[in-house]
Amino acid sequence: MRHILVLLGVCMILSVRGAEAQPSYPFQDSTLTVEARLNDLVERMTLEEKIDLLAGYEDFYLHPCERLGIPAFKMADGPLGVSSWGIWGRATAFPAALALAASWDKELAEKTGRMYAQEWRARGIHFMLAPGANIYRASKGARNFEYFGEDPYLSSEMLVPFVKAVQAGGVIPTIKHYIGNDQEFDRYTVSTEMDERTLREIYLPPFKAAVQRADIKAVMTGYNPFQGTYCTENSFVIDILKKEWGFKGMLMSDWACTYSADKAAKNGLDLEMGSNDWFVREKLLPLIQDGTITEELINEKVRRIYGPCIEMGFFDRPQLCKDIPLFNPDANRLALEEAEKGIILLKNADGVLPLKSPKKIAVIGPTANPYVISDRVYNTNGIVYGGGGSSRVHPWYVISDLDGIRNEFPDAEIYYAEGVSNQFKRRLFRTSVFRTRDGKKGLEAKYYTCSSDTGTLSSRLLEQQAKAAGRSSAGQTSSVSRQQADGNLILSMVEPRIDNEWWGYPHNEKNLGEEYQVEWDGYVDVHQTDSLRFFVDAQGGYKLWLDDQLMLDASKSQSFDVRNVAVAVEKGSSVHVRLTYYNQRSLPSEIRMGYAYDSDIDFSEAKQVAKQADVVICCLGLDGSIELEGRDRPFDLPFGQDRLVDELLQVNPNVVVVLHAGGGVGMTRWIDRVPAVLHAFYPGQEGGNALAHILSGKVNPSAKLPFTIEKRWEDSPACGNYDETRREKKVYYREGIFTGYRGYEHNQVQPLFPFGYGLSYTTFSYSGLEVKVDDRKKGDVTVRFSVRNDGKREGAEVVQLYVSDPKSGEPRPVKELKGFEKVSLKPGETQTVTLKLTQDDFSYFSSKKRKWVFEKGDFVIRVGASSQDIRLEETIRL
Ligand code: BGC
Repeated sequence: MRHILVLLGVCMILSVRGAEAQPSYPFQDSTLTVEARLNDLVERMTLEEKIDLLAGYEDFYLHPCERLGIPAFKMADGPLGVSSWGIWGRATAFPAALALAASWDKELAEKTGRMYAQEWRARGIHFMLAPGANIYRASKGARNFEYFGEDPYLSSEMLVPFVKAVQAGGVIPTIKHYIGNDQEFDRYTVSTEMDERTLREIYLPPFKAAVQRADIKAVMTGYNPFQGTYCTENSFVIDILKKEWGFKGMLMSDWACTYSADKAAKNGLDLEMGSNDWFVREKLLPLIQDGTITEELINEKVRRIYGPCIEMGFFDRPQLCKDIPLFNPDANRLALEEAEKGIILLKNADGVLPLKSPKKIAVIGPTANPYVISDRVYNTNGIVYGGGGSSRVHPWYVISDLDGIRNEFPDAEIYYAEGVSNQFKRRLFRTSVFRTRDGKKGLEAKYYTCSSDTGTLSSRLLEQQAKAAGRSSAGQTSSVSRQQADGNLILSMVEPRIDNEWWGYPHNEKNLGEEYQVEWDGYVDVHQTDSLRFFVDAQGGYKLWLDDQLMLDASKSQSFDVRNVAVAVEKGSSVHVRLTYYNQRSLPSEIRMGYAYDSDIDFSEAKQVAKQADVVICCLGLDGSIELEGRDRPFDLPFGQDRLVDELLQVNPNVVVVLHAGGGVGMTRWIDRVPAVLHAFYPGQEGGNALAHILSGKVNPSAKLPFTIEKRWEDSPACGNYDETRREKKVYYREGIFTGYRGYEHNQVQPLFPFGYGLSYTTFSYSGLEVKVDDRKKGDVTVRFSVRNDGKREGAEVVQLYVSDPKSGEPRPVKELKGFEKVSLKPGETQTVTLKLTQDDFSYFSSKKRKWVFEKGDFVIRVGASSQDIRLEETIRL
């Protein structure tokens, strides 16, 4: 009978890839131990077959071993649902991981993990390329929405139940991106430089928790080098993972970032994904033959890859569960619940929310209804249910904010206007018209190489141009640049527009070398007397001259830099435009330029709509075309959004701002003048309904910030050490452990909204703090207190526990999160919360001793509603 079952299982597995049925071998026998099965398998596979397994197959599969009847196990990206560029078809679009973190709800994380496993099993997919566990170091990080925020403790607490639930559901989650891939700018080459204490205290803990507390079976490396060595071959960080923490599963590369066979193989990479360049027969067989690596090393990798697959049952049962629906009402409901629990109420002056039966609602803004406008739901441009990149799910449906509001307020008149589009500049870049000096359509483009002595020519050139522009006439400036650069001119042509994204060399011109410069020269013929606004978006340094006046200078920047400038123009005249662009080969290199007349940037329709409404729901923020992997995003809102708020406030003071973004954005230009603000992240396919339920009061908001929102980018602890210095291709985490709220508190900078902050439609009071030292030596402490719902509505409060060590051998943060709980309370209800602390919660990683130390002495226990709203505190002696 057992054999029949085994055989049945095998047949079902084989049917997944349509391979021939095979006799059963011990490795297929589910009654044997994993170890015994692995031994048999490793022995049975030829060396070539084993090597084949070590590099992925057709992008999102493990290599099959058809001779032994082992199919190609499947993988799908996953922080926001089943994704991977749509290859697995449509799926449920869940809110961003950051929104899940904002719920501070461990049970919800567990429930989400369970549902994700079902989504994967419904499609027969074995691996989930999620969760993301990098740290929100800076608001500009364009992948923060895929991660769990700025605090290692919160990230770990949310990740662990999620990972356990995914694995319990029969799917292998893959925690990523190990390690120091906390920015997207230059992610392929920038080396992350941080001291060991920072690494241990801030960046490693979520990975460690997933390994040690959730027994995660797969880890993905970052693209980046860490301290000069690519994560895929970095023995320092891989040894921590495998030797120190005892990680037994597989370490896979991020897509196409394996750079060697011998080093990567020896230092611990098990699986090359996204490329088949290194862990292949041609590279590994000679290394085995010449003794550089052993077959035993290959066997170990096979064990690490197939071990978890056997453990998870991939060899014994079909991964496809046909009884789980692809379009799953339970998943849809969970997507809604998650979104409702992840939207944060940031401001609510005079209780303007929930809305009091409004008769006329104006819904305005670029993120309110993006799908209708582009009419291309599956295009990244404008998507707001998720960010862009590999995490983008192709959903069955999307409820935009406008849809949700219409659903929730059926009796109200709903008006809508886009106000300003997030695609506004994109259109300009595509459509702006230029002519050359001699009347051809387009601009003269010249591509120069910079000398290999680290691009000095280019800097010199830019400097000379600036100097010349300052002291002499324009014509001379141009000729200076031409003379200087001519020696290095590689390409010259007329181009119709400036709208470039190069993932390599422009025009495939390799002779441009590591660093290059481009100069565009052309004219704009003016058709109306107005002010003409020029927009430049670039990744790479640039300067813009208009009529030979230097108007924009972003030459020091290599990261994503977005600027605009206006000049007064008269009908019939022309503007001479010259743009120089300097790139140090960050990928992608991007440079775009376009223009519009100010009078064409028109808010009158939005104002008209706003004027007649009782309340304006103004949906601002970013979208999947702005926030996605591969490059970072600006802190300030896209062009026109701040102005939209101003314009709306002129006609209606009742403006409720809804933000969609994967983190903090600049809001100081209007925050004091609008009565209410909600942060709705990328809320998934049910986002509009969730938002509307909060607006109407059907749902009481309960989410809190998993990151700090600064007033201005300059206030961020990472500012100055993020994307500013690029020549050496290193990013120094100079703020060290003082990142996020640890940094704001240490630097005594007041943020706009602190970590852990979020409002409710009710209020909570805290009382009765008791801190009991259970075991002084071990550092076991029990913290108990009560929280009461003082208002008239049912609600949930996230109670937070912070620990401080006022006197310590090495500097420590003012406070650190070490416990939290989400408590649901009826009006008037009180609940006692008990939180436990152990020695680890009081320890720090000593840079001097290079180990965790627990220093005896006084510790302050603080309990509150946010990192800045401490309600109870007590000092204990340990
Ligand atoms: C991303 C990974 C993703 C992989 C496969 C890479 O570009 O960085 O997070 O899992 O692609 O889509």
